[in-house]
Amino acid sequence: MTNKQEFKINDVLHRSSKEEIVDEIFQGLSKKDKYISCKFFYDSLGSKLFEEITRLPEYYPSRTEKNILKKKSPEISKYIEHKTDIVELGSGDCSKISIILSAVDYSIRNSLRYIPVDISISAIRDSAAVLQERYKGIGVYGISADFTRDMGFIPSASKRLICFFGSTLGNLPAEEQTELLNGLKNIMKPGDNLLLGIDMVKDSEILESAYNDKSSVTAAFNKNILNVVNRLVNTDFDTAQFEHLAFYNNKESRIEMHLRALSEMEIYSLHFPEKIVVRKGETIHTENSRKFTYADISKFSLLTGLNVENVFMDPNKWFSLVQFIA
Ligand code: SAH
Ligand code: AVI
Repeated sequence: MTNKQEFKINDVLHRSSKEEIVDEIFQGLSKKDKYISCKFFYDSLGSKLFEEITRLPEYYPSRTEKNILKKKSPEISKYIEHKTDIVELGSGDCSKISIILSAVDYSIRNSLRYIPVDISISAIRDSAAVLQERYKGIGVYGISADFTRDMGFIPSASKRLICFFGSTLGNLPAEEQTELLNGLKNIMKPGDNLLLGIDMVKDSEILESAYNDKSSVTAAFNKNILNVVNRLVNTDFDTAQFEHLAFYNNKESRIEMHLRALSEMEIYSLHFPEKIVVRKGETIHTENSRKFTYADISKFSLLTGLNVENVFMDPNKWFSLVQFIA
C-alpha cells in the first residue's frame, strides 16, 4: 500500500491535429525568413535542458525571480485563502510555486488545489509527482494545453491565484502577449490575482551572456528544437549542420535566438508538399525573448483593463513580479 495521492492530468493539447502541426512548421520553414515556434522546444529533453539553463551562472532570470519570490512570499501568501486554486501557466519544474506554497499556513495549504498548465506533458508529470511528495495534502490537477489558444480550460469554481513566471510572456509575439493577458482578464473575477514575472531591459552584455553560456547548454537547447521537429513531422534535419546564434536586438528590446546553417541542405518530409532548401549561412529564427520596461507594465494595464496592485523587483531592477487584479 502506498500513501501517494493520485494526480490528474487533462491532456487538452493532444486533441489538436497532426495536420495543424505539419502546416504550422511547413509554413514557418517556407518563409523568406525561416521560423520555428519556440513552443516546440519543450519535449522531455527540452524541458530538462531548460531546467539546466535555470542553474547556469550566466542565466540570471530564474535566480533573480526566485529571490524576489523568497522575499515577497509572506506578502503574496496573504492572497491565498482556504480552497484557492493556484493555476500556473508554463509551469515547467514547479520550483517557483514551491517557494510560495512553503510560505502558506499549513491548514490553508492542505485545502489548496495546484493546477500546472504546460505544453510539455513530461514536465507536468515529473513536477506534479515532486510537488505531491513535498506537500502531501495538496490536490494536483495538471493540464497539458497550449496557453495561447484560450483560457477555457482553467477551472472557475474557486478563487484563483494565476501565476505566469519566468518571463515566458516575452517569448510570444506582442499581439499574442496582449491577447493572453486579455484572455486572463476576461476570466478573472473579483478576488482573483495574477502574478506575472517579466524580465527587464538591461545592459546588452548581461543579456547576451545569459543566452550564450560558456557550457553551451543554451546551444544544445536551441538545436534540440530540430530533433523535436524531426519527430513531429518526419523531417531529416541534422543538428550538427547548425550553429547556435543569440544576440540582443536593441530596436525590438529582445534577445533573438537563431540556428545558422553551416552548409546548404535540402530538407524532406513525407508530409510536406515540397522540399525545404536551406542555404549555407541562412538562419532559422527559433525564439524571441522580449525584455520589458516599467512603461510596458502600464501599457499592459491600459490595453487589458487589468489593475496593477503591486510591482515587486530585485534591488538591481533586473526582473519584475507584477501583481494584477481584475
Ligand atoms: N515557469 C517555469 C518554466 C519556464 S520555461 C520557470 O519560470 O522556470 C517555459 C515553459 O512554458 C516550459 O515548461 C514550456 O513547456 C511551457 N510552454 C511554452 N510554450 C507553451 C505554450 N504555448 N503553452 C503551454 N506551455 C508552454
Ligand atoms: C522560457 N523563456 C522565458 C526562456 C527565455 O529566457 O526567454 C527560454 C530560454 N531560451 C534560452 N534560454 C532560456
